[in-house]
Amino acid sequence: MSAAEVADDDLDRLLEIVLERYQYDFRQYARTSVRRRVQRALEAMRLVSVDEIVATLDRDPRRFTELLGYLTVQVTSMFRDPPFWAALRSKVLPYLATYPSPRIWSAGVGTGEEAYSLAILLDEAGLLDRSIVYATDIEPAALAAATAGIYSLKKMREYGESYAAAGGAGSLADHYTAAYGGAVLSPRLRKAVVFSDHSLSTDSVFAEVQLIVCRNVFIYFERPLQARVLQLFADGLSRGGYLALGSKEIVLPSFVPDVFTEVDRDARIYRRKGG
Ligand SMILES: C[S@@+](CC[C@H](N)C(=O)[O-])C[C@H]1O[C@@H](n2cnc3c(N)ncnc32)[C@H](O)[C@@H]1O
Repeated sequence: MSAAEVADDDLDRLLEIVLERYQYDFRQYARTSVRRRVQRALEAMRLVSVDEIVATLDRDPRRFTELLGYLTVQVTSMFRDPPFWAALRSKVLPYLATYPSPRIWSAGVGTGEEAYSLAILLDEAGLLDRSIVYATDIEPAALAAATAGIYSLKKMREYGESYAAAGGAGSLADHYTAAYGGAVLSPRLRKAVVFSDHSLSTDSVFAEVQLIVCRNVFIYFERPLQARVLQLFADGLSRGGYLALGSKEIVLPSFVPDVFTEVDRDARIYRRKGG
């Protein structure tokens, strides 16, 4: 038997249970997309209704890990959207270089490719040893993979093309060694990136940073949650600090007036006023 379309009431009930029992808040995520992902979870977990998901979680709360994997979208890659990285390199790195110890926050970092791309950019600008990249996400399995810093060699060859298109100074292969059947990123990169669990929906600011990168995350949020996260970012940035959202993201809406100015429209890079 295949799962019927998840009704609004059932979806609300499931999201309330997820919040209450596991403290993950998906209530303000784009509705159609959450519904689709719950549907996909039902099919993959061979269940037919929200009642069955709830009964499964009652019997074995650890199966939430599986459900969480379906509720989040983990598509990512290194130097994804090369023009974005070229813009970051030319427009933001010179500002970071003025700080003795630049701090960067990569929010919604998934399996880590974005954070390591940032570390490579910093390395090639001679800033890596004095910088720190805080890389956060809510998905424990993604964070574990990110912390390991091992990717498939096939993927790394593809990423090499994006790296070159983004204006990479050398070769991506300079930043990893082949071992354990994969590409292990250099210890220098891994030392500069600190991965941790942080939810943009429920947690608060944890450090003052000079650059926030948050790409392909807002698109999954409804307006009120987008507004919350933008306020969080405004609070977390130094005056004059940069917010980089990437070309697939929302254009900064008018509900944060007087806080940001636009630096690069295509790459959706903004600057906190007052620097
Ligand atoms: C499509 S991936 C984007 C990865 C990377 N930023 C990129 O653009 O390649 C979206 C990520 O946002 C994370 N995410 C979803 N909701 C979140 C939240 N409330 N707080 C932090 N991260 C969240 C997901 O777990 C997933 O890793």
